[in-house]
Amino acid sequence: MKYCILMGSPRKNGNTLKLIKPFIEELELNQIQYDLIWLYDKHIESCIACRKCQKDWSIFGCHISDDVQEIFDKVYDSDVIILATPIYSWYCTPPMKALLDRLVYGMNKYYGDEKGPSLWNGKRLGIITTCGYRPEKGTDLFEEGIKRYCKHSQLKYIGMLVERDFGYKSVFISDEKIENSRSFARQLISIME
Ligand SMILES: Cc1cc2nc3c(=O)[nH]c(=O)nc-3n(C[C@H](O)[C@H](O)[C@H](O)COP(=O)(O)O)c2cc1C
Repeated sequence: MKYCILMGSPRKNGNTLKLIKPFIEELELNQIQYDLIWLYDKHIESCIACRKCQKDWSIFGCHISDDVQEIFDKVYDSDVIILATPIYSWYCTPPMKALLDRLVYGMNKYYGDEKGPSLWNGKRLGIITTCGYRPEKGTDLFEEGIKRYCKHSQLKYIGMLVERDFGYKSVFISDEKIENSRSFARQLISIME
């Protein structure tokens, strides 16, 4: 069992990091392997819809030379993908959106002359997010978008942990949020058993 945590926060000690820390500690307690990828540290170009990735159905096949091949390999090698991101303008942050676009084409060979396979068919995907608005107005559009993304890509959506940030003057993390994060990890671990 391997997790790949795609970290979309630009803040190295921000709210989203504080929320994923207990989740990661719980994975470690259960001796579950994981990769943690800080997307703002990576070079991730936008998809330009050239469709060169659609020619060979067995590989990523993208011709852009940046860090996405390396990220593709780690995602491909994992059983569970976690999208960890603050909400920016009702969605994930830009490097995560760019990565989602690159993967929706590179992983799903649906866009050539004939419809091919999804290379990540059956993997699980979950969300860990933080937002400033009430979650039902802050994360609803992102969650809905990701649910459709999963259905389209033949991924299994396994749920979302969301915690609210009450602003720069307040302390984000609390015992309750830490426990929610640990319990979300335990829930996902039990789904996979
Ligand atoms: C540019 C920007 C856009 C944001 N847009 C939203 C938004 O649309 N909805 C929301 O609920 N919170 C929004 N927020 C608040 C962040 O999601 C929230 O503060 C989050 O906890 C920050 O996480 P971080 O510390 O990991 O960066 C925004 C923050 C920034 C900086």
